[in-house]
Amino acid sequence: MKQLSIGKSDIKSSRFIYGCMRIAGDNSESDRNKGKRAIMTALDNGYNHFDHADIYGGGACESLFGELLAETPHLREQMILTSKAGIRPRSNSHDSYAPTRYDFSQRYLMKSVEGSLLRLNTDYLDMFLLHRPDYLFDVEEVADTFALLKASGKVKHFGVSNFKPSQVELLKSKLSMPLLVNQVEINIHNIDTLMDGTLDQCQQHGITPIAWCPLGGVAYPAWGNTFSTDDEQRIGAELAQQSEKHACAPWQVMLAWLLKHPANILPIIGSTTPERIVAAKQALTLDYSREDWYRLLEARNGQQVP
Ligand SMILES: NC(=O)c1ccc[n+]([C@@H]2O[C@H](COP(=O)([O-])OP(=O)(O)OC[C@H]3O[C@@H](n4cnc5c(N)ncnc54)[C@H](OP(=O)(O)O)[C@@H]3O)[C@@H](O)[C@H]2O)c1
Repeated sequence: MKQLSIGKSDIKSSRFIYGCMRIAGDNSESDRNKGKRAIMTALDNGYNHFDHADIYGGGACESLFGELLAETPHLREQMILTSKAGIRPRSNSHDSYAPTRYDFSQRYLMKSVEGSLLRLNTDYLDMFLLHRPDYLFDVEEVADTFALLKASGKVKHFGVSNFKPSQVELLKSKLSMPLLVNQVEINIHNIDTLMDGTLDQCQQHGITPIAWCPLGGVAYPAWGNTFSTDDEQRIGAELAQQSEKHACAPWQVMLAWLLKHPANILPIIGSTTPERIVAAKQALTLDYSREDWYRLLEARNGQQVP
């Protein structure tokens, strides 16, 4: 699969990242085996970048991946392992008063990274991302935490997820290393990053945008779905027309729509179905035009651009 440099680094990521949020399923033997097959399918098909978070499956997703690495340790050097932390679930506390919250305190982030390394069965993360902005974060403390993690060799590179441009600017102002990525939701339902400066900032500062849930609103209802039945029918009709034109499936059109953006968005493929993990690559071959792109935007908006 085609590869792109991440941020201004020399790390070369496959154009699609494989997302590990669903690999443990319900943690049954059969779902775990399915998850391992999904990872191996991704590897066999040129995905070299795997996205995790400490909270996926309550840690079960990282543990499953770590089991696979223990069986095949030679694979570690061939892959980019990203994990995230900073969302602290209600259950992750001895204090029954504590709600689910964001926590970028040094103590919590250091502990989270240690946990990810242990579960993933690795000595280092290629990238560590702050999962969602902690409204109460102390930027100096986070900068210090990143420096400690880097100096210890436990994390090679850093990035953020779900950060608004102003939050990226704030963090960047205190860091001694570059932020390589901003992992954000981009799909036909959620196009905030096209308009709120996120993708402009990425291009200006050489930050790679990574799209989570790229098929939300196409393959399944997006988070916080606001599409009416009419919206869905209009978008579905346009996707059907474009998929016929490009001889592919509607969800592959959606991936091509993301790939077309000049910010070089890297979509994360989260399917655990081997056929879909393979078939996603077809989107990389579509000759997707500006006219296709704007027609789908028009269908999404229910009106032409002004
Ligand atoms: N940073 C963040 O805040 C954040 C938030 C959410 C996710 N993420 C990351 O993003 C990754 C991708 O997210 P995602 O898993 O939601 O991505 P996705 O690729 O948009 O969706 C995958 C889901 O859609 C289903 N699917 C795919 N194609 C389908 C089709 N043609 N018809 C019906 N269902 C279809 C898959 O089912 P099958 O498995 O059955 O194929 C799977 O349940 C995650 O793994 C995680 O790494 C990050």
